[in-house]
Amino acid sequence: MSVDISVIIPTYNESGNIALLLEKIQQVLSAHSYEIIVVDDNSPDRTWEVAQSWASSRPAVSVIRRMHDRGLSSAVITGMEIARGRSLAVMDADLQHDESILPIMAASVLAGECDVAIGSRGAAGGSYGEWSRRRRFISFVAATMARIVLPVQVTDPMSGFFVISRKVYQDTIATINPRGFKILLEFIGRSRSITIKEFGYTFRNRVHGETKLSGLVIKNYLVALYDLRFGKYVSPTFMLYAFVGLTGVFINMSGFALGEFLDFPHVASGITAIDPLFLSVPFGIQLSIISNYVLNNYLTFFEKRYRGTGNLTGFLLFQLISMLGLFVQFSVFQLLQGAELFLWLEDSRKFLNNGIGIIIATITNYYLNLNVTWKGR
Ligand code: GDD
Ligand code: MN
Repeated sequence: MSVDISVIIPTYNESGNIALLLEKIQQVLSAHSYEIIVVDDNSPDRTWEVAQSWASSRPAVSVIRRMHDRGLSSAVITGMEIARGRSLAVMDADLQHDESILPIMAASVLAGECDVAIGSRGAAGGSYGEWSRRRRFISFVAATMARIVLPVQVTDPMSGFFVISRKVYQDTIATINPRGFKILLEFIGRSRSITIKEFGYTFRNRVHGETKLSGLVIKNYLVALYDLRFGKYVSPTFMLYAFVGLTGVFINMSGFALGEFLDFPHVASGITAIDPLFLSVPFGIQLSIISNYVLNNYLTFFEKRYRGTGNLTGFLLFQLISMLGLFVQFSVFQLLQGAELFLWLEDSRKFLNNGIGIIIATITNYYLNLNVTWKGR
């Protein structure tokens, strides 16, 4: 049997908030056909227990206690999978979202006025409450970028407070990326054509518990935006990797400059043709290998990163693969030079050949690092 509104509430350590929130939702929805689904990831503070005892005498409320999965977006999807509603609402458990606009948001979706109703801090009638300038700025930048990348206008694309129609859910669920915080962005970005309506509300301060949002959210958000728009062409992980590689070029060059500035020795090898050997060159190379490793570990492959002494293994593998990369680039260059291709380029030919070598080595190194250094850790 279906209901009009399914309210999905992801929780993690919200034992101080959940009972009050459930009470409030019941009040505002009392005249509607609804259900509430709390999805808790086995919170250490036993939020699930509080919710379960509340649900035991109320058939409209159910609680899922997930033992093996973690994460806001995936919790929302777990809730949606068992939801029976014609509209699906999502809301934080920490009382920061204003439940009093929930009925009009759902009504708007149910009446077909829109496919997605967003509770928005940035829309008319809404406000960020007592937010710091820094958080407002981040939120503004995020909204502007979403506007550029996505085909729709949204003032608060990071909102965790929204209602979608069952149709939006059905059309997008197969392609949704269930990682991270930006589940609304996924629904909007993966729909073909949707109408959105925003409903202003004032963001309240948290009273109990603390936020689970970390600085990483910003990186994940950018990656998600990129993935929605260009992900089908080139994977975001590769883009991050290539970006790190680019920073490595600057480090490499700076290391060389530093070495020269500090008068690193120019060594005689005895082979007249190549003497003297500038030690600043390997110095720059090594510096860039180190910085590339650190950046890849904390940016590109953050979720699979090495920690503490594990970095010794990680770095050793990365170093070996980097040396292999030098060899790949060198070989490709020599092969192309010998193959006498692009002869019409005359003197510029060597640059093209070296460029191709760099691109091929970047790609082979990427796959090696993906499948060896940071493989399924
Ligand atoms: N099940 C589950 N698992 N729930 C989680 C998890 C998790 O790993 N992490 C967070 N939650 C729940 C919290 O308990 C809360 O109910 C809700 O998800 C939002 O988490 P908060 O930690 O309160 O996030 P926030 O208030 O800092 O962030 C809000 O604003 C962001 C953008 O400004 C949220 O609305 C985000 O969704 C939003 O992106
Ligand atoms: Mn919150």
